[in-house]
Amino acid sequence: MAVLWRAFLSTCLTAGLCLWIPGPVSAQTPAATPPAAAKDASYVGSAACKDCHAKEYASYSRYSKKAHSSESVKIMAKKLTPEELAGCFACHTTGYGKPGGFVSFEQTPALANAGCEVCHGPGSAHVDAGGDPALIKNKLAMADCEGCHNAERVRNFNFKPMLFAGAH
Ligand code: HEC
Ligand code: HEC
Ligand code: HEC
Ligand code: HEC
Repeated sequence: MAVLWRAFLSTCLTAGLCLWIPGPVSAQTPAATPPAAAKDASYVGSAACKDCHAKEYASYSRYSKKAHSSESVKIMAKKLTPEELAGCFACHTTGYGKPGGFVSFEQTPALANAGCEVCHGPGSAHVDAGGDPALIKNKLAMADCEGCHNAERVRNFNFKPMLFAGAH
């Protein structure tokens, strides 16, 4: 396990790809906290946002690596144990380990990537209410990124530009 992480880390450092430092792998998804009114909401997947937010959906799908983040994991999946794979899901999918969140590529394909809801929080309440803005998280802070992105890198990148590069 430790050897594998070192090998992976050095490969990704050499390739200049790392924004993160792998800490102890936990099955908890470090996702955004939804507003109190939406605390019972569950994850619905980015496609559920498409019709009402066509502009955000189109640019996210085209420009954000998050929209394809499950592919990054699939490339390496064969060399990983199920426990190691579960560690990847916490950052590369939507809502892993949370109510209504990602379970597996077969069972929850709509949540296989790091979608809108990794930043905006689970969206079922907002969607069911026909888009009530009070039921979705909109004001984001650096802490919303740090669960998946190394804090120092987020700061060095300067939060604002990074925020928009990673969103839409
Ligand atoms: C649930 C985990 C998670 C959260 C939360 C998260 N990200 Fe990401 N982000 C990722 C992953 C995984 C990638 C890399 C995807 C890949 O390359 O396969 C990524 C990629 C990025 C990138 C690279 C550009 C791109 O193509 O997407 C930026 C910039 C970024 N994130 C910004 C942010 C910001 C800003 C926040 C907080 C508002 C944030 N992310 C929150 C998981 C997360
Ligand atoms: C703590 C969160 C986190 C965990 C856990 C994690 N990743 Fe990532 N991963 C990221 C982020 C963030 C990036 C984007 C780095 C960047 O764009 O600079 C990334 C990038 C990648 C890339 C490069 C993608 C590309 O665009 O070229 C691969 C491949 C990858 N991860 C695979 C994995 C695998 C396999 C695992 C499990 C063994 C894993 N990751 C675990 C956050 C994570
Ligand atoms: C990397 C994090 C991230 C991801 C992923 C993300 N967003 Fe956002 N989103 C933001 C940020 C940051 C803002 C701006 C909040 C602010 O104004 O302070 C925002 C704002 C919005 C707004 C309000 C726009 C406005 O003009 O007020 C909508 C609607 C939205 N996002 C929808 C989506 C949809 C739909 C997706 C997926 C297709 C998505 N977002 C994915 C971070 C993200
Ligand atoms: C049935 C249509 C509909 C769907 C589906 C929908 N939204 Fe919305 N959304 C809206 C409307 C309407 C607003 C309010 C727009 C405004 O105030 O300008 C809104 C506002 C937002 C805002 C801004 C909230 C604020 O405080 O201003 C965000 C972020 C957002 N939506 C994200 C999402 C995400 C993520 C999804 C998918 C999980 C989604 N929406 C699905 C209709 C929808």
